[in-house]
Amino acid sequence: MSDRRPTHPINMLILGIESSCDDAAAAVLAIDKPGVADVRSSVIANQDDVHRAYGGIVPELASRSHIVTILPVIERALASAGASLDDIGGIAVTCGPGLVGSLLVGLLCAKGIAQASGLPLVGVNHLEGHLLAPMLEQPVPFPYLALVVSGGHTALFAVEDFGRYRRLGVTRDDAAGEAFDKVAKMMGLGYPGGRIIDELSRSGDPQEVKFPRARVKNASLDFSFSGVKTAVALFLAGERGRTTAPSDLAASFQEAVVEMLIRPTIAAARELGADTIALTGGVAANSRLRKRLAAAAAADGRHLVAPSFKYCTDNAAMIAMAGSYRLLRGKRDPLTIDANPNLPL
Ligand code: KG4
Ligand code: ZN
Repeated sequence: MSDRRPTHPINMLILGIESSCDDAAAAVLAIDKPGVADVRSSVIANQDDVHRAYGGIVPELASRSHIVTILPVIERALASAGASLDDIGGIAVTCGPGLVGSLLVGLLCAKGIAQASGLPLVGVNHLEGHLLAPMLEQPVPFPYLALVVSGGHTALFAVEDFGRYRRLGVTRDDAAGEAFDKVAKMMGLGYPGGRIIDELSRSGDPQEVKFPRARVKNASLDFSFSGVKTAVALFLAGERGRTTAPSDLAASFQEAVVEMLIRPTIAAARELGADTIALTGGVAANSRLRKRLAAAAAADGRHLVAPSFKYCTDNAAMIAMAGSYRLLRGKRDPLTIDANPNLPL
């Protein structure tokens, strides 16, 4: 196998590949130095139409769909960046955590390209991608506090440097995005529910129903969302559930989730002395969360950095960013690297 390690690491083009859940994504990122990048292309093939009828992600359908879409997605990412594989200096691919079948499709594809081209390959932790996504649009100095809030994860991390992350808090049960999706399903709103609840809430009154705000004892930086989900189910089964406007119910539920996310986040920022709070993951697209967390951070003398919507949800540009600092140092993983659905950060 030839070794085409780039001779000029400055302005290195990195091909990112992501398939950990239900989005097949590829991106080309130009890296000047660690943390400073220009997204040349970012292509995402969304599977919402595949899973909508089931009201949630069906793992087997997700991986089968990835098999069909991953190569065209990579080709489109290269074409829209005006690049060919000859221009690429390294490949970064998600190797966990996620759905094992989905992960394997992107990883095997990346290995195949690396084997055929001789390009260096690095496996990336999907969560590390979310943690570093804010850097895709602006330099974000270390250290900062990151709230990762998606369909699969809800956690607070101290981001101390590339590769140095400390988990400060985590959900004890559901991820916040999972709660959004399940409540939307209970309300018959469709799939995926987070965006629908966000939109419906804009015309609703967040004070109409007072749902309980869970507080986790003895570990103040942890989260819990199963209680509010059950409270919505009980409310829907009762008398008021039939008469309350869906927009008011959606807004009241969303308000409870947003407040339960904000309290531990501000507490963690104080504990850490972090001036910058980064909001990332699919639920970071939530307009109410962005607005209220920005206000809470500002009131506490801190600054909120939230990526554009396209970099909040799963994408491959964030995977390329996370792989970049190792690729720039000339690191690579062996082609025997495996997918790990439970990969720790
Ligand atoms: O990061 P992501 O694309 O995939 C995972 O790694 O989970 O996040 C998807 C999650 C879904 O639960 C979806 O309902 C939620 O993000 N989501 C939202 C919004 N947009 C996406 N939740 C609340 N408000 C939104 N606007
Ligand atoms: Zn994600």
